[in-house]
Amino acid sequence: MSKPYILITGGAGFIGSHCALVLLEHGFDVVVIDNCSNAYLGSSDSKPESLKRVEKLTNKSIEFVKGDLSDCDNLGSVFKKFNISCVLHCAALKSVKESWDIPLSYYSNNVTGSINLFSVMSSYGVKKLIFSSSSTVYGDPQFLPLTEEHPTGQNCANPYGRTKFLVEEILKDLCRSDKDWCVYSLRYFNPVGAHPSGDIGEDPLGIPNNLMPIITQVAIGKLKSIDVYGNDYDTVDGTGVRDYIHIMDLAEGHAAAIKVLLKEKGNAGIFKAYNLGTGSGSSVLQMISTFEKVNSVKIPYKIVGKRAGDVAASYCAVQLAKKELGWQAKYGLAEMCKDAWTWQTKNPKGYQK
Ligand code: WQD
Repeated sequence: MSKPYILITGGAGFIGSHCALVLLEHGFDVVVIDNCSNAYLGSSDSKPESLKRVEKLTNKSIEFVKGDLSDCDNLGSVFKKFNISCVLHCAALKSVKESWDIPLSYYSNNVTGSINLFSVMSSYGVKKLIFSSSSTVYGDPQFLPLTEEHPTGQNCANPYGRTKFLVEEILKDLCRSDKDWCVYSLRYFNPVGAHPSGDIGEDPLGIPNNLMPIITQVAIGKLKSIDVYGNDYDTVDGTGVRDYIHIMDLAEGHAAAIKVLLKEKGNAGIFKAYNLGTGSGSSVLQMISTFEKVNSVKIPYKIVGKRAGDVAASYCAVQLAKKELGWQAKYGLAEMCKDAWTWQTKNPKGYQK
């Protein structure tokens, strides 16, 4: 039997590339499938720039297949060629704002694409999956901190969040129907930052939607200032509160989850969800002031109206991942701001030269 690989779908993206790096560092072999829809390819071969840099940082190689989840034959060829022990499913469209404009693309890419993946996995007998889920499945929290028992899907505020909720429900039904399936759904809170080298990081296309890349682009002068969406929430300073987690902590959480998942015996039909966050919330103004202090830069901002669909506050309970995965986040806001800034200053145009 050839050596086992972890297959990462969407492995060239922000989350996927950092997970690939950490999995390689933990001694796993990695194969990535990515449609490169938002991954910079650079001049040479088809391997995305982000993965080339991961190979350089780890001095290890990554198998890469260009393709997406709409092409089941191409996807099947990956399972034919490699002995896949577990799949980390990151491939998804992820912009809340965009999902309002093109919901069908979000449902077909995130939901139909996932159904294709699970069908191909089934046909090749690969039934261990880590699903890249999101805190948005909780909708507007009824209580905080959010535990994994909090109801999901009740008022997911946007089509993107609904796709994540629907895929979780599909996976629960799959695990009920076929006891050989074993699924961990990792519900990310707000992943930010970059590998401390600054060689890989978050490289949003166009104007970013998320707070941290906007802060770094204001700091580097690409954007003039930040619109702070509302300052009359019932929070510490009236601005939105989120559970920001360093991308390196998030990636380590995936390695911890995969190690436990691979030990799970078959015939259990397990679906488990885990929050990946720090357990503490920080406001927009706290993030801005931490960034200014840590990086000795000024971030101009102005208070504007609330953004539709935003919740006032969201942060998670972290006990379950600590108890069952032996993982907890270790970095704070300062490291997130420092590493995000290192990435941005080393790569003013992202992965493009
Ligand atoms: C954070 C805070 C905004 C931009 C995102 C993804 C979601 C999920 C979690 C993956 C909020 C405020 C932002 C700006 C601002 N990730 N803000 N001005 O909305 O919590 O969710 O991370 O699954 O998919 O969308 O993150 O970074 O957009 O906002 O004031 O220009 O910053 O109101 O309070 P969000 P965000």
